[in-house]
Formats: sequence, structure tokens, C-alpha cells
Amino acid sequence: MRLLLFSVLFLALLGCRPDSPPDLEPDPPYVLDLPAGFPAPPIPEDNALTVSRLELGKHLFYDPILSRDSSLSCMSCHLPEAGFADHHPVSVGIEGRLGFRNSPTLTNVAYHPWFFKEGGSPSLEFQVLGPLENHVEMDIDAAVLNERLATLSHYHPLAQKAYGRDLDIYVLTRALASFQRTLISGDAPYDAYRRGETRALSAAQVRGMDLFFSDRTSCSACHGGFDFSTHGMENNGTERDYGADLGRFRITLDSADIGKFKVPTLRNIALTWPYMHDGHLPDLAAVIDHYNQGGQGHVNQSPLVRPLGLSEAEQADLVAFLESLTDQQFIENPAFRP
Ligand code: HEC
Ligand code: HEC
Repeated sequence: MRLLLFSVLFLALLGCRPDSPPDLEPDPPYVLDLPAGFPAPPIPEDNALTVSRLELGKHLFYDPILSRDSSLSCMSCHLPEAGFADHHPVSVGIEGRLGFRNSPTLTNVAYHPWFFKEGGSPSLEFQVLGPLENHVEMDIDAAVLNERLATLSHYHPLAQKAYGRDLDIYVLTRALASFQRTLISGDAPYDAYRRGETRALSAAQVRGMDLFFSDRTSCSACHGGFDFSTHGMENNGTERDYGADLGRFRITLDSADIGKFKVPTLRNIALTWPYMHDGHLPDLAAVIDHYNQGGQGHVNQSPLVRPLGLSEAEQADLVAFLESLTDQQFIENPAFRP
């Protein structure tokens, strides 16, 4: 018996299950198909990935029933075709209410050690309540939401299979986190080039890549590694005065943290315009211009951001390189659509 259980589990781990019953595993584990060079992301022990959990999370991600007036789903601000971000400078919530931050990509969010731009949320499970309860996003009270979820009986069978209980906030937060953990992207032309397909990048993109990883620009000191981010908190000098959004300072109240934000991934960056925490830079050329000028000179600005003296051609090469980080397969993957 134990041997049989083990072999079914083994097959499920490999991603294929025996066609014939008995199916002893009612909710098989889901095994992430990781791109070359990507480590396994941390997954909480009490929320292991399973096929049903993902399926449930995916449907909930696209369901506007989660917002107070049923007008917005998570997808409204995290659109697949926009790299799971959107194109508004700051996000637009229910009744057109404006937020104060640019919607971030969910690309590779499984790897983040903290969530929100100032790192105010410790886990993806916990993070979910942010947009749901936020007055300028989905604006629904947790108690009201819980009552509403109880009435959504079409979700209960899948919720039972995934978590052994009907749909409620416990299930919702965990299922949405599970779905988001699968949004892993690492198959852009840049990755093909790294695998040895030398024609995957244009000559301009190769020149831009060399600049990106050089000490001349220091881009990769903050945007390095498989996810093009250290996920650390840095002040990259986008403002001289950070005004109402002081970044990491909001959590620590330490003046050295004013203007520090989580370093964003640059994967799929060409799709997620406009840029920076408040979306004030409209395109990648404006971002490169910002770095080339050496930032606005805030007291906390990282010394890595300083005038770069790049020629116009070099700036264009950097933009071309950033465009090579778009992973079309990820964007079009039917597994991420309802
Ligand atoms: C009205 C637009 C809007 C909606 C709806 C929305 N989000 Fe977001 N999301 C944002 C914005 C803006 C941020 C950045 C907030 C911040 O950093 O303070 C964000 C941040 C996040 C983050 C953190 C990413 C990071 O890099 O730290 C995750 C994860 C996320 N949202 C998932 C969701 C999920 C799941 C839902 C549905 C329950 C959802 N969002 C609904 C706009 C939205
Ligand atoms: C000191 C660390 C640091 C260095 C060096 C750095 N960046 Fe950034 N970068 C950041 C931070 C932090 C942000 C987010 C700032 C914000 O949200 O306002 C960012 C944002 C960006 C964005 C916009 C991302 C988005 O989703 O809005 C792009 C594109 C970018 N950087 C590219 C580069 C390039 C190209 C270089 C080299 C010329 C570079 N960065 C150098 C820390 C750095």
C-alpha cells in the first residue's frame, strides 16, 4: 500500500499521473516548471502548491465579485498583456478612485522576500487583503467579503478539494497566493541568447547587455541575478522631494529610508509602462535618461546612481536590451488565463 502511494506521488511529482484509477491523490501536487538558472521559490509549508489550489486561485484572480461593486478583479490592474501590471501612472480603483502608486508587475513575485513597494507585507497570502480592503482599490470590508464568499456556492467543491473547506477568506488568500506563485517568467530572447542562441539578440541588444552588466552603468548591482533584481530597498533618485510617498520610511520611520523602494524586476519591463513607484516616467527612454543624468540628487540617493555620460547611441542600446527581456510565451500562456 505504502509502495503504491509512493509511486503515485512520484508520478504526480513528475507531472504525469496514471490514467487508470485508483487515483489515491485527490489533489495532486503542482510542480513548477522552472527556467534554467532559477532556484525553487520559497513556498510556505501550510500552502504547498497543488493543482486545485492553482485552479481556484486563477479563477478568483479574474473574478470581479471580489470588489465591493463587482467592477474590478485583480486582473483589472494586473493585466497579462501588460506583464501583469497596467498602463496607468497610478492605479484606478472602483468608481475611478485614484491610488498613489503604479501597479507593479506580478512577474516572478514568488521570489520576493516582502511585498508592496516599501516591503510592508510579509507574505503573498497576507498581501491579498491589501487591495481588497483598500478604499481606492476594491474597497470591500473583510467581514462583508467573507459573507459574500460563503454565498458563492459554485466555488465550494473546488475549495473543498483544495483546502478541505468552503470558500472563505482563509481559502481566498491562500488560493490567490498559490496562483501568483506560478507566474514565473524566464524565457525571453535574452535567456535564449544565454543558452547559446546567439541570433536571439540584435547587435544593439548585445551592446546594451554589455553596458547593463558593466561598472560603467552599475545597473546590475541592483537589477542583477536571474530576476534582474536584488529585491532590496534602494533610493534610485527618482525625486528630489519624495512628497507624500516616502517609501520604506513609512515602515521604519528612519530618515535614511526616505525614498527607498523595492528594486523591481526588469523582466517583461517593456510591457509595464509607465515606470517608477508613481509612474511618472512614460517610457524606457525616459528611464535611461533619468539614470544617465545621475538622478535628482536626493540625500539618500545611492552612490551607484550618478551621471553616466552615455552617448545617445548607448542609451538606445540599453533600451533595446531591456526590450529583449519580454517573455512572449509567459504573456500568452493559456495556463495563466481563466
Ligand atoms: C486598483 C488596482 C489594483 C487592484 C484591483 C489590485 N491591485 Fe495589486 N497592486 C496594485 C498597486 C498600485 C500595487 C502597489 C501597491 C504598493 O506597493 O503599495 C499592487 C501591489 C500588488 C502586489 C505586490 C507586488 C510587489 O511587487 O510587492 C501583489 C502581489 C498584488 N498587487 C496582487 C493583487 C491581487 C491578488 C489582487 C486581487 C485581490 C490585486 N493585486 C488587485 C494595484 C491593484
Ligand atoms: C541603486 C540601485 C539601482 C541602480 C544602480 C539602478 N536601479 Fe533601476 N531601479 C531601482 C529602484 C529602487 C527602482 C524603483 C524606484 C521606484 O519605484 O520609484 C528602479 C526602477 C527601474 C526601472 C523601472 C521599473 C518599473 O517597474 O517601474 C527600470 C526600467 C530600471 N530601474 C532600469 C535600470 C537601469 C537600466 C539601470 C542602469 C542604468 C538601473 N536601473 C540602475 C534601483 C536601481
